[in-house]
Amino acid sequence: MTNACFDPTTARTAPHPAHDLLADPFRRRLLSAAVLTASGGALAAAGIPLPSLAASAGRAAGAIHDFTGIPASTRDLVIVSEGYAVSLLYAWGDPISDGPRARADAGDDAAAQMAQAGMHHDGLHFFPFVENGKASSTHGLLCINHEYTDDGLLHDTGMQEWSAGKVAKSKAAHGVSVIEVRQTADGWQLVRPSRLARRITADTPCRISGPARGHAAMRTAADRRGEVVLGTVNNCAMGSTPWGTYLTCEENFNGYFKGPPTPGADQKRYGLTEKGFGFRWHEHDERFDVTRHPNEPNHFGWVVEIDPRNPEQAPVKRTALGRFKHEAATVTLARDGRAVVYMGDDERFEYVYKFVSRDRYRAGHPGNANLLDDGTLYVAQFGADGKGRWLPLRHGEAYSNGALTAEYGFRDQGDVVIRCRQAADIAGATRMDRPEWVAVNPKNSEVYVTLTNNGKRGTPEAPGLDAANPRAENTFGHIVRWRESGNDAAATDFTWDIFALAGDPQNANPNTQGNIKGDAYGSPDGLWFDPSGRLWIQTDVSSSVLNKGDFANLGNNQMLVADVKSGETRRFLTGPKGCELTGITTTPDGKTLFVNIQHPGETASERSDPAHPNAISAWPANQFPEALGGRPRSATIVITRTDGRPVAA
Ligand code: FEO
Ligand code: CA
Ligand code: CA
Repeated sequence: MTNACFDPTTARTAPHPAHDLLADPFRRRLLSAAVLTASGGALAAAGIPLPSLAASAGRAAGAIHDFTGIPASTRDLVIVSEGYAVSLLYAWGDPISDGPRARADAGDDAAAQMAQAGMHHDGLHFFPFVENGKASSTHGLLCINHEYTDDGLLHDTGMQEWSAGKVAKSKAAHGVSVIEVRQTADGWQLVRPSRLARRITADTPCRISGPARGHAAMRTAADRRGEVVLGTVNNCAMGSTPWGTYLTCEENFNGYFKGPPTPGADQKRYGLTEKGFGFRWHEHDERFDVTRHPNEPNHFGWVVEIDPRNPEQAPVKRTALGRFKHEAATVTLARDGRAVVYMGDDERFEYVYKFVSRDRYRAGHPGNANLLDDGTLYVAQFGADGKGRWLPLRHGEAYSNGALTAEYGFRDQGDVVIRCRQAADIAGATRMDRPEWVAVNPKNSEVYVTLTNNGKRGTPEAPGLDAANPRAENTFGHIVRWRESGNDAAATDFTWDIFALAGDPQNANPNTQGNIKGDAYGSPDGLWFDPSGRLWIQTDVSSSVLNKGDFANLGNNQMLVADVKSGETRRFLTGPKGCELTGITTTPDGKTLFVNIQHPGETASERSDPAHPNAISAWPANQFPEALGGRPRSATIVITRTDGRPVAA
């Protein structure tokens, strides 16, 4: 999602001495001037060394680029490097199975939408079928998140004459698609009908598991036991597990609720406001009215596990992974086989987390199904010396700022995970510039996180700079990486550095020049390593600033590939107008890349005028004759090489 809310008055549970130190205006100014030199040397001179993992031994060589970088673009098209082909697979309104396609004027009802692609495609993952004893690269399931809706486009008359039917359709356009796809002589297509095709929406019953299951704060009028939740919302990025399940992450869930006129401290900490984000669901579904159902927001903000091969099984909210505005849930294995999940909380000044399971993953073992219910949740603290620590958010843990005990409002681990942000405040974690996706380098296990932007960093009443978030008014964002001690994902300490400061080297203001080697970009968001260790970066510059001001030279949102050894970055793809690039996955042979184009044609307000739906973009119908027209449509595209060799392998 483009925007993340920020409330400068939000009360934190505990002070942050490190930030107080950097709140000194002179120091802040010095730092902001220093980092702009791009090399990091001046930062060190200012008192905060910029750590360098590059100097450490054992860094694996990145793969070289094998495509030609393309220029920035403002055209209303998907453009890829020469030698690659793009086709359209699955756009908002396409049937998941053998039902009808949507009407071009969006006159369909909620029931129709339930059987069609939702809006605003985000993270996705390809799950191959096993055929002839091996993972197929031509047949499998795609799980696709539908993050949110533009209700100006979703209904034929937009948000005029707001009704229960429109609320139902809006909820049906959220959630996840599970679709069956196959490569044929005519390219990739959906298999229709498919008994595995499924839509999960904001009304689909989900099971609650882990420490918050049955907790008093999870009980509602509809579920007195606190064990079942209706639906999942704002499904942003994702993860996949070695045992074949999909993890979908609930991000800006707060925006769907009408909060009380004066939210309490815990409500404010999660961004509940009286107005919400204007979805207006509460007008026809009272569970989204917090004044009537105060525990309902506790049902959201989780990582939700879905078994794509079992359409009868309810999604499961894995509460052991904490409740916050989840962006990604990137899974890897520790040296001893325990599952490790890296996660970001995407809001300004929020945290990076990881979960380490108690038990080990064992191939084919039924116990894997509940591996994410027991373990230790940690939050990251990035030290100024290039070292970092994982701080356990375990009930009973004591920190210098307080303790995760009843005295501080945490009676059990359920309280800790439900009020995860408050627990992380007490632990003294590092407040980051909007943590988005996390990617693990398959060549050396280093972990990268995108920090998409934070225009409030270092401004009055906001936290100052720190080593891991070194730029004031960080409108372009950056990428931080770390190496776990002993290269073990379960380690409790790590070393870190900054991989890249995004920016435009042509910009007159040194603060926005960044230090990218190669093609410039802003607001890194999606992040993925291919098997050869190339880092794919997807951008989400806000529609309100795209191609304007500081972003005038950078064109539409885009996808780039970085060589992590040299840092060289090349632009591979440019998206249509008003879109965000998000979501990337490949087939086992690397010959097919699936990528999501989210919200083409998005307006600065994120809600379109239904009288002029194509005012900004007519994609994909303007590029693909087979596409449904009438409105711009988020879609999954397929990228292959024209010579048949792998795109990403
Ligand atoms: Fe949904 Fe943080 O992007
Ligand atoms: Ca984003
Ligand atoms: Ca995102």
